[in-house]
Amino acid sequence: MSPLWWGLLFGCLGCGILPATWAQFPRVCMTVGSLASKECCPPLGTELANTCGSQEGRGQCTEVQADTRPWSGRYVLWNQDDREQWPRKFFNRTCRCTGNFAGYNCGDCRFGWTGSNCDQKKPPVVRKNIHSLTPQEREQFLGALALAKNTTHPDYVITTQHWLGLLGPNGTQPQIANCSIYDYFVWLHYYSVRDTLLGPGRPYKAADFSHRGPAFVTWHRYHLLLLERDLQRLTGNESLALPYWNFATGRNECDVCTDQLFGAARQDDPTLISQNSRFSSWEIVCDSLDDYNRRVTLCNGTYEGLLRRNQVGRNNEKLPTLEDIQDCLSLNKFDNPPFFQNSSFSFRLSFHDVLHSFTDALFDEWMKRFKPSADAWPQELAPIGHNRMYNMVPFFPPVTNAELFLTADQLGYSYAIDLTVKETWGWTTILLMVIGVLMLLAGLFVLLAFLQYRRLRKGYTPLMETHLSNKRYVEEA
Ligand SMILES: *[C@@H]1O[C@H](CO)[C@@H](O)[C@H](O)[C@H]1NC(C)=O
Ligand SMILES: *[C@@H]1O[C@H](CO)[C@@H](O)[C@H](O)[C@H]1NC(C)=O
Ligand SMILES: *[C@@H]1O[C@H](CO)[C@@H](O)[C@H](O)[C@H]1NC(C)=O
Ligand SMILES: *[C@@H]1O[C@H](CO)[C@@H](O)[C@H](O)[C@H]1NC(C)=O
Ligand SMILES: *[C@@H]1O[C@H](CO)[C@@H](O)[C@H](O)[C@H]1NC(C)=O
Ligand SMILES: *[C@@H]1O[C@H](CO)[C@@H](O)[C@H](O)[C@H]1NC(C)=O
Ligand SMILES: *[C@@H]1O[C@H](CO)[C@@H](O)[C@H](O)[C@H]1NC(C)=O
Repeated sequence: MSPLWWGLLFGCLGCGILPATWAQFPRVCMTVGSLASKECCPPLGTELANTCGSQEGRGQCTEVQADTRPWSGRYVLWNQDDREQWPRKFFNRTCRCTGNFAGYNCGDCRFGWTGSNCDQKKPPVVRKNIHSLTPQEREQFLGALALAKNTTHPDYVITTQHWLGLLGPNGTQPQIANCSIYDYFVWLHYYSVRDTLLGPGRPYKAADFSHRGPAFVTWHRYHLLLLERDLQRLTGNESLALPYWNFATGRNECDVCTDQLFGAARQDDPTLISQNSRFSSWEIVCDSLDDYNRRVTLCNGTYEGLLRRNQVGRNNEKLPTLEDIQDCLSLNKFDNPPFFQNSSFSFRLSFHDVLHSFTDALFDEWMKRFKPSADAWPQELAPIGHNRMYNMVPFFPPVTNAELFLTADQLGYSYAIDLTVKETWGWTTILLMVIGVLMLLAGLFVLLAFLQYRRLRKGYTPLMETHLSNKRYVEEA
């Protein structure tokens, strides 16, 4: 359930932990009035007329633009899934922020900017190899995760029912729940990959808004950026950076599965986390996909048992090797029609098919190396959710894939790794560089095992709360 990137970062943990739940909409907009009018344009500060910070020139309440271009792939329904034309099934007016302002009420800055007027370039945070953190940095990072796991998200709540049932049986009670900052992120991931629910026990497993297409890279990049920022706010440390985990060492072992990092395997049950690790007591959320499908509901963020994880090496799972990564970096077309998972010769596909995971650092290296123009990204006929101008599901306020198709330094972070490969260098140098590349995986949990785990479980739940769908105001009010 958790994103690949998370996989990278928290790889080991990830299996159970990462799949965290996140809230999807600002708490302040989850009122009957706001949902019925489909408008989420909250005031900035206490002055009610200051919607979207308009009185300070920070933004305006405007109609949501959603991608209407054709898509390809297996999802062939229309108007059946609340993620279509995201987020218009829920809100058709949101804040559009000007300049470097950002956020659901334009109270934030765009990534990479800071200051009360968002006019100062933020010094990039540096994502380091998790094995290179000082003991103090390691403690800060793991402590921030633990705090995020049991701190309610300050701004966002998760929805617990499909859009048609969102106001509850009587149309008077928004179906939402608070959840922790960490679980909020798990929920976001869950929501992007769950099935479309056509009725009790009738999941339609054709859409994946964050994998199996080019949006893989941008989606996970954004997810990590949001998590990183929430951890920075939680700890009050603006320089806090997610570390990365270089899983592609070729040794096919989980070297972050130690009690010092994400926890070793328990002796008596290797799928559980060692009791010497702070993660041993972590509980997972959003893992009962079949159950949600059966009940035609969404994950509501309740704990569903202790974090467990697959062991690398079981089921012939393999972590990516140096060669895999080298192959990745040598492909210079971002994607080729029809943009299916199986189309050949593309960067994105290599990740899916060969790495089974994506790394933001690799992506960034690729961006820097090939300097693709914006139209390298398919504008149409990618799988649903993956077109260039599609708003990434379920992020709110809306943000398109195109907006994240930048280099990391434009987004205020960097990787402490040099992936540069010069054609003229010798094989040994290249090999060393490639090793460096492998290390990228900065801050993400892209644990392959984790991914595999997610895949096995991929059977998320959808919506269509049939017994609640008598309320149509959500759609037409
Ligand atoms: C949050 O987690 C920390 C570390 O696991 C623990 O010490 C603390 O008691 C927890 N706080 C709450 C409110 O559960
Ligand atoms: C919904 O309305 C019914 C009938 O008016 C009432 O009995 C019930 O308590 C209401 N439920 C909620 C959650 O408000
Ligand atoms: C969520 O938490 C906030 C703040 O603690 C509280 O005001 C609100 O009622 C809670 N919402 C739900 C749905 O539990
Ligand atoms: C903030 O985080 C950075 C990066 O992890 C760390 O080096 C620094 O010591 C932290 N600062 C404080 C005041 O804790
Ligand atoms: C929340 O989800 C859990 C697990 O899916 C379920 O057992 C529980 O009844 C749900 N709670 C509510 C209030 O729907
Ligand atoms: C690629 O996948 C699509 C959809 O699953 C399938 O229709 C097509 O035949 C595949 N193409 C190749 C070359 O395998
Ligand atoms: C937005 O949604 C509201 C409430 O359903 C509806 O009245 C309005 O016509 C919609 N606006 C547009 C531009 O679709």
